[in-house]
Amino acid sequence: MVEAVQDAGVVVTGAGGGIGAALARRFAAEGARVVVNDLDAGKAEAVAAEIGGTAVPGDASAIVGDAREALGGAVDVFCANAGVAFEDAGAGEPLDEKAWALSWDVNVMAHVRAAQALLPDWLERGRGRFVSTVSAAGLLTMLGAPSYSVTKHGALAFAEWLSLTYGHRGVRVHAICPQGVRTDMLAATGSAGDLVLQPTAIEPEAVAEALFRGIAEDRFLILPHPEVAEYYQARAATPDRWLAGMNHIQQKWEATR
Ligand SMILES: NC(=O)c1ccc[n+]([C@@H]2O[C@H](COP(=O)([O-])OP(=O)(O)OC[C@H]3O[C@@H](n4cnc5c(N)ncnc54)[C@H](O)[C@@H]3O)[C@@H](O)[C@H]2O)c1
Repeated sequence: MVEAVQDAGVVVTGAGGGIGAALARRFAAEGARVVVNDLDAGKAEAVAAEIGGTAVPGDASAIVGDAREALGGAVDVFCANAGVAFEDAGAGEPLDEKAWALSWDVNVMAHVRAAQALLPDWLERGRGRFVSTVSAAGLLTMLGAPSYSVTKHGALAFAEWLSLTYGHRGVRVHAICPQGVRTDMLAATGSAGDLVLQPTAIEPEAVAEALFRGIAEDRFLILPHPEVAEYYQARAATPDRWLAGMNHIQQKWEATR
Protein backbone atom coordinates (compact mmCIF):
# COMPACT_ATOMS: atom_id res chain seq x y z
CA MET A 1 0.00 0.00 0.00
CA VAL A 2 1.19 3.49 -0.85
CA GLU A 3 0.27 5.83 1.99
CA ALA A 4 -0.07 8.90 -0.25
CA VAL A 5 -2.89 7.19 -2.12
CA GLN A 6 -5.08 5.72 0.65
CA ASP A 7 -8.45 7.46 0.73
CA ALA A 8 -7.17 9.99 -1.85
CA GLY A 9 -9.62 11.46 -4.36
CA VAL A 10 -8.27 10.28 -7.71
CA VAL A 11 -9.37 11.13 -11.25
CA VAL A 12 -8.28 9.03 -14.23
CA THR A 13 -9.15 10.32 -17.70
CA GLY A 14 -9.63 7.92 -20.60
CA ALA A 15 -10.20 5.16 -18.02
CA GLY A 16 -12.88 3.25 -19.91
CA GLY A 17 -10.23 0.80 -21.13
CA GLY A 18 -6.52 0.17 -21.63
CA ILE A 19 -3.95 1.87 -19.41
CA GLY A 20 -6.50 4.21 -17.79
CA ALA A 21 -8.69 1.32 -16.64
CA ALA A 22 -5.61 -0.43 -15.21
CA LEU A 23 -4.63 2.77 -13.34
CA ALA A 24 -8.20 3.19 -12.02
CA ARG A 25 -8.30 -0.45 -10.82
CA ARG A 26 -4.92 -0.12 -9.11
CA PHE A 27 -5.79 3.15 -7.36
CA ALA A 28 -9.04 1.60 -6.14
CA ALA A 29 -7.19 -1.50 -4.91
CA GLU A 30 -4.83 0.81 -2.99
CA GLY A 31 -7.79 2.35 -1.16
CA ALA A 32 -8.37 5.49 -3.23
CA ARG A 33 -11.77 6.95 -4.16
CA VAL A 34 -11.70 6.94 -7.94
CA VAL A 35 -13.46 9.01 -10.58
CA VAL A 36 -13.49 7.17 -13.90
CA ASN A 37 -13.64 9.48 -16.91
CA ASP A 38 -13.99 8.54 -20.57
CA LEU A 39 -15.60 10.01 -23.67
CA ASP A 40 -17.41 6.67 -23.91
CA ALA A 41 -19.94 6.84 -21.06
CA GLY A 42 -20.79 3.13 -21.18
CA LYS A 43 -17.14 2.13 -20.76
CA ALA A 44 -16.59 4.65 -17.93
CA GLU A 45 -19.66 3.36 -16.10
CA ALA A 46 -18.61 -0.29 -16.49
CA VAL A 47 -15.14 0.33 -14.99
CA ALA A 48 -16.58 2.54 -12.21
CA ALA A 49 -19.11 -0.16 -11.28
CA GLU A 50 -16.39 -2.80 -11.21
CA ILE A 51 -14.12 -0.85 -8.82
CA GLY A 52 -16.72 0.93 -6.70
CA GLY A 53 -15.80 4.29 -8.22
CA THR A 54 -17.84 7.06 -9.84
CA ALA A 55 -18.17 7.57 -13.57
CA VAL A 56 -17.79 11.12 -14.87
CA PRO A 57 -18.03 10.76 -18.64
CA GLY A 58 -17.09 13.53 -21.05
CA ASP A 59 -14.11 15.26 -22.61
CA ALA A 60 -11.01 14.98 -20.42
CA SER A 61 -10.40 18.72 -20.94
CA ALA A 62 -13.22 19.86 -18.70
CA ILE A 63 -13.99 17.45 -15.91
CA VAL A 64 -12.27 18.83 -12.81
CA GLY A 65 -15.42 20.58 -11.54
CA ASP A 66 -17.63 17.52 -12.01
CA ALA A 67 -14.94 15.29 -10.51
CA ARG A 68 -14.76 17.44 -7.35
CA GLU A 69 -18.52 17.19 -7.05
CA ALA A 70 -18.39 13.40 -7.46
CA LEU A 71 -15.66 13.14 -4.81
CA GLY A 72 -17.43 15.54 -2.46
CA GLY A 73 -14.23 17.54 -2.15
CA ALA A 74 -10.71 17.90 -3.43
CA VAL A 75 -8.99 16.05 -6.23
CA ASP A 76 -5.75 14.74 -4.69
CA VAL A 77 -4.42 12.89 -7.74
CA PHE A 78 -5.18 13.70 -11.38
CA CYS A 79 -4.15 11.18 -14.02
CA ALA A 80 -4.12 12.89 -17.44
CA ASN A 81 -4.24 9.63 -19.33
CA ALA A 82 -6.69 10.07 -22.23
CA GLY A 83 -4.82 10.19 -25.51
CA VAL A 84 -5.26 9.83 -29.24
CA ALA A 85 -2.88 8.46 -31.86
CA PHE A 86 -2.85 8.71 -35.64
CA GLU A 87 -0.63 7.32 -38.33
CA ASP A 88 -0.89 10.63 -40.12
CA ALA A 89 1.91 11.32 -42.55
CA GLY A 90 4.39 9.46 -44.63
CA ALA A 91 6.45 10.53 -47.60
CA GLY A 92 4.28 12.68 -49.87
CA GLU A 93 1.09 12.05 -47.91
CA PRO A 94 -1.21 15.03 -47.31
CA LEU A 95 -1.12 16.78 -43.96
CA ASP A 96 -3.94 15.52 -41.76
CA GLU A 97 -5.06 18.78 -40.11
CA LYS A 98 -7.78 17.02 -38.08
CA ALA A 99 -5.31 14.55 -36.62
CA TRP A 100 -2.98 17.39 -35.60
CA ALA A 101 -5.77 19.49 -34.04
CA LEU A 102 -7.24 16.60 -32.07
CA SER A 103 -3.79 15.45 -30.94
CA TRP A 104 -2.97 18.92 -29.58
CA ASP A 105 -6.33 19.11 -27.88
CA VAL A 106 -6.34 15.72 -26.16
CA ASN A 107 -2.63 14.95 -25.72
CA VAL A 108 -1.53 18.43 -24.58
CA MET A 109 -4.29 20.99 -23.97
CA ALA A 110 -6.42 18.64 -21.84
CA HIS A 111 -3.41 18.44 -19.46
CA VAL A 112 -2.94 22.21 -19.49
CA ARG A 113 -6.64 22.87 -18.84
CA ALA A 114 -6.82 20.32 -16.03
CA ALA A 115 -3.73 21.76 -14.34
CA GLN A 116 -5.19 25.25 -14.65
CA ALA A 117 -8.32 24.08 -12.83
CA LEU A 118 -6.44 22.07 -10.18
CA LEU A 119 -3.53 24.34 -9.26
CA PRO A 120 -5.27 27.05 -7.19
CA ASP A 121 -6.57 24.41 -4.76
CA TRP A 122 -3.32 22.39 -4.77
CA LEU A 123 -1.19 25.47 -4.08
CA GLU A 124 -3.48 26.56 -1.27
CA ARG A 125 -3.37 23.11 0.34
CA GLY A 126 0.34 22.67 -0.39
CA ARG A 127 -0.18 19.29 -2.08
CA GLY A 128 -1.43 17.62 -5.24
CA ARG A 129 -0.26 14.92 -7.63
CA PHE A 130 -0.39 15.16 -11.44
CA VAL A 131 0.22 11.95 -13.39
CA SER A 132 0.73 12.38 -17.13
CA THR A 133 0.48 9.32 -19.37
CA VAL A 134 2.97 10.45 -22.01
CA SER A 135 4.71 7.72 -24.04
CA ALA A 136 8.25 6.74 -24.97
CA ALA A 137 7.35 8.74 -28.12
CA GLY A 138 7.56 11.85 -25.88
CA LEU A 139 11.22 11.07 -25.14
CA LEU A 140 12.06 9.57 -28.54
CA THR A 141 9.63 9.43 -31.50
CA MET A 142 7.09 7.16 -33.22
CA LEU A 143 7.45 6.06 -36.82
CA GLY A 144 4.70 7.31 -39.14
CA ALA A 145 3.04 9.39 -36.44
CA PRO A 146 4.30 12.98 -36.41
CA SER A 147 1.28 14.46 -34.60
CA TYR A 148 1.61 11.81 -31.87
CA SER A 149 5.39 12.29 -31.54
CA VAL A 150 5.21 16.08 -31.38
CA THR A 151 2.26 16.29 -28.97
CA LYS A 152 3.74 13.64 -26.66
CA HIS A 153 6.95 15.72 -26.53
CA GLY A 154 4.63 18.61 -25.63
CA ALA A 155 2.94 16.60 -22.87
CA LEU A 156 6.34 15.71 -21.41
CA ALA A 157 7.51 19.33 -21.59
CA PHE A 158 4.38 20.47 -19.79
CA ALA A 159 4.79 17.83 -17.06
CA GLU A 160 8.44 18.89 -16.58
CA TRP A 161 7.38 22.52 -16.38
CA LEU A 162 4.71 21.73 -13.78
CA SER A 163 7.21 19.79 -11.69
CA LEU A 164 9.98 22.39 -11.74
CA THR A 165 7.59 25.29 -11.18
CA TYR A 166 5.53 23.86 -8.31
CA GLY A 167 7.70 21.09 -6.81
CA HIS A 168 8.69 23.23 -3.82
CA ARG A 169 5.02 24.05 -3.23
CA GLY A 170 3.97 20.44 -2.74
CA VAL A 171 2.92 19.45 -6.26
CA ARG A 172 4.31 16.04 -7.32
CA VAL A 173 4.40 15.16 -11.01
CA HIS A 174 4.99 11.82 -12.72
CA ALA A 175 5.42 11.25 -16.47
CA ILE A 176 4.70 7.68 -17.60
CA CYS A 177 6.62 6.87 -20.80
CA PRO A 178 5.97 3.29 -21.96
CA GLN A 179 6.64 1.76 -25.35
CA GLY A 180 4.01 -0.74 -26.50
CA VAL A 181 1.17 -1.59 -24.11
CA ARG A 182 -1.46 -4.16 -25.13
CA THR A 183 -4.54 -1.94 -25.53
CA ASP A 184 -6.98 -0.96 -28.28
CA MET A 185 -4.63 1.90 -29.20
CA LEU A 186 -1.72 -0.47 -29.84
CA ALA A 187 -3.99 -2.81 -31.83
CA ALA A 188 -4.88 0.16 -34.08
CA THR A 189 -1.28 1.26 -34.61
CA GLY A 190 -0.87 -0.80 -37.76
CA SER A 191 2.33 -2.04 -39.32
CA ALA A 192 4.64 0.48 -37.57
CA GLY A 193 3.31 -0.68 -34.20
CA ASP A 194 3.70 -4.30 -35.29
CA LEU A 195 7.36 -3.66 -36.11
CA VAL A 196 8.55 -1.51 -33.21
CA LEU A 197 6.02 -1.88 -30.36
CA GLN A 198 4.43 -5.33 -30.42
CA PRO A 199 7.61 -7.38 -29.81
CA THR A 200 8.20 -5.82 -26.36
CA ALA A 201 4.59 -4.91 -25.53
CA ILE A 202 3.50 -5.22 -21.90
CA GLU A 203 0.13 -5.44 -20.16
CA PRO A 204 -1.58 -2.29 -18.85
CA GLU A 205 -1.26 -3.65 -15.29
CA ALA A 206 2.54 -3.47 -15.62
CA VAL A 207 2.22 0.26 -16.35
CA ALA A 208 0.16 0.73 -13.16
CA GLU A 209 2.77 -1.26 -11.22
CA ALA A 210 5.57 0.95 -12.59
CA LEU A 211 3.64 4.08 -11.60
CA PHE A 212 3.17 2.84 -8.04
CA ARG A 213 6.89 2.04 -7.74
CA GLY A 214 7.61 5.56 -9.01
CA ILE A 215 5.20 7.14 -6.52
CA ALA A 216 6.81 5.18 -3.66
CA GLU A 217 10.28 6.32 -4.83
CA ASP A 218 9.09 9.88 -5.61
CA ARG A 219 10.36 9.69 -9.22
CA PHE A 220 9.27 11.99 -12.08
CA LEU A 221 10.06 9.70 -14.98
CA ILE A 222 8.23 6.37 -15.00
CA LEU A 223 9.72 3.91 -17.49
CA PRO A 224 7.76 0.64 -17.63
CA HIS A 225 10.26 -0.41 -20.34
CA PRO A 226 13.59 0.33 -18.57
CA GLU A 227 15.58 0.14 -21.85
CA VAL A 228 13.95 3.45 -22.88
CA ALA A 229 16.43 5.21 -20.52
CA GLU A 230 19.31 4.01 -22.73
CA TYR A 231 17.60 5.12 -25.96
CA TYR A 232 16.89 8.51 -24.40
CA GLN A 233 20.53 8.91 -23.37
CA ALA A 234 21.71 7.85 -26.84
CA ARG A 235 19.39 10.40 -28.46
CA ALA A 236 20.82 13.19 -26.27
CA ALA A 237 24.47 12.14 -26.47
CA THR A 238 24.75 11.25 -30.18
CA PRO A 239 21.72 12.71 -32.02
CA ASP A 240 23.01 12.04 -35.55
CA ARG A 241 23.74 8.42 -34.73
CA TRP A 242 20.33 8.06 -33.09
CA LEU A 243 18.59 9.61 -36.12
CA ALA A 244 20.52 7.33 -38.48
CA GLY A 245 19.42 4.33 -36.43
CA MET A 246 15.78 5.45 -36.50
CA ASN A 247 16.01 6.07 -40.24
CA HIS A 248 17.28 2.51 -40.63
CA ILE A 249 14.13 1.26 -38.82
CA GLN A 250 11.99 3.56 -41.00
CA GLN A 251 13.45 1.95 -44.12
CA LYS A 252 12.86 -1.51 -42.68
CA TRP A 253 9.24 -0.51 -42.03
CA GLU A 254 8.81 0.85 -45.59
CA ALA A 255 10.08 -2.46 -46.95
CA THR A 256 7.28 -4.30 -45.11
CA ARG A 257 4.45 -2.07 -46.40
N1 LIG B 1 -0.97 1.49 -25.85
C1 LIG B 1 0.28 1.90 -26.00
O1 LIG B 1 1.10 1.21 -26.61
C2 LIG B 1 0.70 3.22 -25.39
C3 LIG B 1 2.08 3.46 -25.27
C4 LIG B 1 2.51 4.66 -24.73
C5 LIG B 1 1.58 5.58 -24.29
N2 LIG B 1 0.25 5.34 -24.42
C6 LIG B 1 -0.67 6.37 -23.95
O2 LIG B 1 -1.49 5.83 -22.94
C7 LIG B 1 -2.72 6.55 -22.86
C8 LIG B 1 -3.87 5.57 -22.85
O3 LIG B 1 -3.87 4.86 -24.06
P1 LIG B 1 -4.36 3.34 -24.22
O4 LIG B 1 -3.30 2.63 -24.92
O5 LIG B 1 -4.90 2.83 -22.94
O6 LIG B 1 -5.50 3.60 -25.29
P2 LIG B 1 -7.02 3.15 -25.40
O7 LIG B 1 -7.43 3.58 -26.75
O8 LIG B 1 -7.18 1.74 -24.98
O9 LIG B 1 -7.72 4.05 -24.28
C9 LIG B 1 -7.83 5.43 -24.42
C10 LIG B 1 -9.17 5.85 -23.85
O10 LIG B 1 -9.22 7.29 -23.88
C11 LIG B 1 -10.54 7.66 -24.25
N3 LIG B 1 -10.51 9.02 -24.78
C12 LIG B 1 -10.04 9.47 -25.98
N4 LIG B 1 -10.17 10.79 -26.08
C13 LIG B 1 -10.74 11.21 -24.93
C14 LIG B 1 -11.13 12.47 -24.43
N5 LIG B 1 -10.96 13.58 -25.16
N6 LIG B 1 -11.67 12.54 -23.19
C15 LIG B 1 -11.86 11.42 -22.45
N7 LIG B 1 -11.52 10.20 -22.87
C16 LIG B 1 -10.96 10.09 -24.09
C17 LIG B 1 -10.98 6.61 -25.25
O11 LIG B 1 -12.39 6.55 -25.35
C18 LIG B 1 -10.36 5.34 -24.66
O12 LIG B 1 -11.26 4.65 -23.81
C19 LIG B 1 -2.71 7.49 -24.07
O13 LIG B 1 -2.36 8.79 -23.66
C20 LIG B 1 -1.65 6.89 -24.97
O14 LIG B 1 -1.07 7.84 -25.83
C21 LIG B 1 -0.20 4.17 -24.96
